[in-house]
Amino acid sequence: MLPYALLSLLLFVGVRAQPSPELQKRISAAIAAAANQSNPDYTAFVNPFIGTDDFGNVCPGASIPFGMTKFSTDMTGYAPAGYVADPSQFIRGLSPLHDSGTGSSLGTYGNFEIMPSLCPNGFNTCNTTLAARQRLRKNNTDDGSPGYFALTLDNEIKMEATATRRAGLERFTFPEGSKPYFVLDLANDLPASFAGGQLTINPDIGRITIGGRYGSSFGPGRFNYQAFACYDLLDGGRQKLDEYGVWTGDLVGLDAKGLGQTRLNLSLNLIGGIYQSGALFSYDDNPTTVNIRVGVSFISEERACENAETEIGSATFEEIRERARLLWLEKLSKVEIDIANTSPNVTEMLYSSLYRAALTPNNATLEAQGLFADTTSFYFDSLYCSWDTFRTFFPLLSLHSPVEYAQIVDTYIDGWRKNGWMPECRANNLQGWTQGGSSADNIVSHFAVYYHNEAQQLGIDLNELYAALVTDAEVNPPEWNIQGRQVNVYKQYGYVPFAVLDVSSTGRQTREGSRTLEYAFEDFGIRQVAQLLEKQDDVEKYTNRSLFYRNVWDPSIESDGFKGFFQKRYPNGTFAFQNPINCSPNDRNQSRPCSLQGTNVNGFYESSSWEYSCSIKETFVKRLDHFFDAGYYLAGNEPSFQTPIGYHYADHPAQSVDRVREVVFDNFDITAAGLPGNDDQAAMASLLAFHLLGLYPVPSTTHLLILSPFTPKYTIHNSFLNISTTVTVVNFDSKSVQKRIPPGVAAYVQNVTVNGVPSASRCHYDFHDTFRTGGEIVITLTADKGEADSCLGLLPESISTGGFAKAR
Ligand SMILES: *[C@@H]1O[C@H](CO)[C@@H](O)[C@H](O)[C@H]1NC(C)=O
Ligand SMILES: *[C@@H]1O[C@H](CO)[C@@H](O)[C@H](O)[C@H]1NC(C)=O
Ligand SMILES: *[C@@H]1O[C@H](CO)[C@@H](O)[C@H](O)[C@H]1NC(C)=O
Ligand SMILES: *[C@@H]1O[C@H](CO)[C@@H](O)[C@H](O)[C@H]1NC(C)=O
Ligand SMILES: *[C@@H]1O[C@H](CO)[C@@H](O)[C@H](O)[C@H]1NC(C)=O
Ligand SMILES: *[C@@H]1O[C@H](CO)[C@@H](O)[C@H](O)[C@H]1NC(C)=O
Ligand SMILES: *[C@@H]1O[C@H](CO)[C@@H](O)[C@H](O)[C@H]1NC(C)=O
Ligand SMILES: *[C@@H]1O[C@H](CO)[C@@H](O)[C@H](O)[C@H]1NC(C)=O
Ligand SMILES: *[C@@H]1O[C@H](CO)[C@@H](O)[C@H](O)[C@H]1NC(C)=O
Ligand SMILES: *[C@@H]1O[C@H](CO)[C@@H](O)[C@H](O)[C@H]1NC(C)=O
Ligand SMILES: *[C@@H]1O[C@H](CO)[C@@H](O)[C@H](O)[C@H]1NC(C)=O
Repeated sequence: MLPYALLSLLLFVGVRAQPSPELQKRISAAIAAAANQSNPDYTAFVNPFIGTDDFGNVCPGASIPFGMTKFSTDMTGYAPAGYVADPSQFIRGLSPLHDSGTGSSLGTYGNFEIMPSLCPNGFNTCNTTLAARQRLRKNNTDDGSPGYFALTLDNEIKMEATATRRAGLERFTFPEGSKPYFVLDLANDLPASFAGGQLTINPDIGRITIGGRYGSSFGPGRFNYQAFACYDLLDGGRQKLDEYGVWTGDLVGLDAKGLGQTRLNLSLNLIGGIYQSGALFSYDDNPTTVNIRVGVSFISEERACENAETEIGSATFEEIRERARLLWLEKLSKVEIDIANTSPNVTEMLYSSLYRAALTPNNATLEAQGLFADTTSFYFDSLYCSWDTFRTFFPLLSLHSPVEYAQIVDTYIDGWRKNGWMPECRANNLQGWTQGGSSADNIVSHFAVYYHNEAQQLGIDLNELYAALVTDAEVNPPEWNIQGRQVNVYKQYGYVPFAVLDVSSTGRQTREGSRTLEYAFEDFGIRQVAQLLEKQDDVEKYTNRSLFYRNVWDPSIESDGFKGFFQKRYPNGTFAFQNPINCSPNDRNQSRPCSLQGTNVNGFYESSSWEYSCSIKETFVKRLDHFFDAGYYLAGNEPSFQTPIGYHYADHPAQSVDRVREVVFDNFDITAAGLPGNDDQAAMASLLAFHLLGLYPVPSTTHLLILSPFTPKYTIHNSFLNISTTVTVVNFDSKSVQKRIPPGVAAYVQNVTVNGVPSASRCHYDFHDTFRTGGEIVITLTADKGEADSCLGLLPESISTGGFAKAR
């Protein structure tokens, strides 16, 4: 979600001193050893720090799959996920709630921070406020693995964390002979959104409970959510508190501490910023190790304590860490590859991507609040944004994890039940800003086309799912910035007009071009489900609407010698000219607003008309070539995801293979700076996983486009369907795994067989014939690019040429 202009403005020269070099050595050794193991520990291949530098915004914190908690440190500077690898940023504490891969510049969560400290001159001299307590790290020491996070401060205090779904254990190691002090924060979170709350110290049982109201990271500032934490300080009686009390402080002299006081009850500060406050405590007997148990809840303080008791109880740090590792192993084992014959970098990128693709959204089931309190449905937080995740994240889930997918679909449908429309950008338990309309339509329709036969068994009622879709398509919400679409005018004009009189709804008057394209694609998703449910009138209606993208195509516009581009359009039909290069990497105007700003007059969201104009069927190879060669491609934002594979639609699949190699090696690697931009809730991670497996999903369809895998063999296990599918790549040549495939090296798809039967096309196959039935897929490669550069049969289907005529 990070707009290009912001990205380029914020360029800085990163100093790479984190994470610890030992981490990479350990991963490399594990990958080398796994070549000869039959059941490798896939968690050992994961580098949680990929994407923690250069605006990847990945949270490397300790979490279980889809965990509600992700324990990570919070840093100064631009750090929406809390952590950043940049060693010049200061650490302000360790906290249990985070999101991974979000572009909100404010940051998200970071509540209930704890900061260990040495206060050699005692309680009253401890630094408590954010600015006073912050410290640098010891260089080259940050470490982590699935379910584990560690960081050592420059004063030699080591912090470690491990997690369950709603709780975690923290372990602090202090220098020998020092007295451990801790600051616990009530009022600071990353977006500085505290709207009142309380903190209570119960010294007898060594417990501190906190509860408060906080604000959104990517949504209306006036919305608040509630969150609670329960800190148990005594490690089952093995540790003893010494001093305890509360504090308040600011930057201009307030530094007050109340030794022995046990309660804070503070309301929203209506003038000025956050009224900083919290608890401060120390331990007796100078223990070198301090264990703290943390429970979190969105319901109540009592529930936060219960969550810690039920999920952790008296288990040790190592026990919880091992439980988390096993949960991750189960998830990562769904994809197996021929490790011995795959480049170690590819193995590390693949498993790190699969890891992040199961890190979010955050499972807050039984912890829902507001309208969702007491819901009997599953409840997932941090769906932001559906616009980012419908393209690759959910399609990846659909290959191997229908149970998890169904639970999230249940959350979307429940959003429709309670809010009236399906959620678009739910974050921090609140409705967030809509990006392209109701992208949930593409998420739930993708589920329907994949799993309609099993939907009931998976707990999804397809008729209800369809009712939710039709509401998104037909009912204009009063405010479409947070849900639904501006459908009244879209239906009236056949496009979202620029500068239109809309008397029935409000919303930010921008992105008319891209909103039209996205509404049309959302309608395509609805059409697919209508077809499945044999609603013939609706099939026709939404087929028509899915072609509305044509209504913003201005055939007269020329750019770089190419004719015809998407443009925003006035209600009277006249196009409102904007240069197609605006908001592309070739736009020399670095201050042009291209994202959600009200001053984004370009008509397109997070990309250029050049980009969006490559997304349609009337795409020509020359235009695509020019798009890449002239530098219009921008890997870091979602509208670009499918562009490198566009050649498939023009019957030139070998050229897609070349482009994908180039995109992967230009944009991804195994370093902290190894993502081309914000991970966007693992949209980027799942895109990379598809690229490495040589597949590309077409959302809301069961089409899978065939590319050239970066590994000679892989198996996808679908434990719900109880089937496995193995893809074997004949003539795989490891020399093809680089940016430019050398001449004479086999890399292009010559033919494909599925369970011995030749595929009707070497450009695509269908989920229902492949990963749903299981068995053996053989892809034979050739070095003869010319011979391989056609589909030899059916082209991937398109709605504009009568494709998708039958439901599968
Ligand atoms: C794996 O086994 C092969 C032959 O069986 C051997 O050459 C190679 O050294 C082994 N690799 C490792 C990392 O043990
Ligand atoms: C508190 O902060 C001040 C100013 O940043 C610093 O000089 C001092 O060493 C800190 N004290 C402790 C106990 O960390
Ligand atoms: C870590 O390394 C960076 C870059 O070399 C340096 O600026 C910084 O002071 C170091 N931090 C510590 C705590 O030594
Ligand atoms: C905390 O303060 C609020 C007013 O700001 C008050 O309504 C509430 O009762 C207080 N809670 C407790 C437990 O004292
Ligand atoms: C989410 O949590 C609920 C309640 O513990 C559990 O039943 C469900 O399986 C979890 N789902 C995922 C995807 O983690
Ligand atoms: C769909 O479009 C066709 C061709 O423009 C038109 O004849 C038909 O009436 C439309 N159907 C619906 C349901 O709008
Ligand atoms: C359509 O409306 C725009 C904006 O008001 C105006 O500039 C343009 O001239 C109009 N076109 C026609 C054909 O009236
Ligand atoms: C860049 O774009 C902004 C916003 O559209 C505009 O105000 C400014 O004049 C442009 N700058 C240049 C050099 O064209
Ligand atoms: C693996 O990735 C690292 C980090 O980007 C890079 O330095 C190295 O050259 C890569 N190795 C191969 C074989 O591509
Ligand atoms: C898969 O196997 C499990 C256990 O063997 C069984 O409970 C389940 O119903 C099977 N699922 C399907 C879709 O056949
Ligand atoms: C695929 O190509 C290989 C190599 O040319 C050939 O041996 C094989 O028969 C072909 N298979 C099919 C199904 O066409």
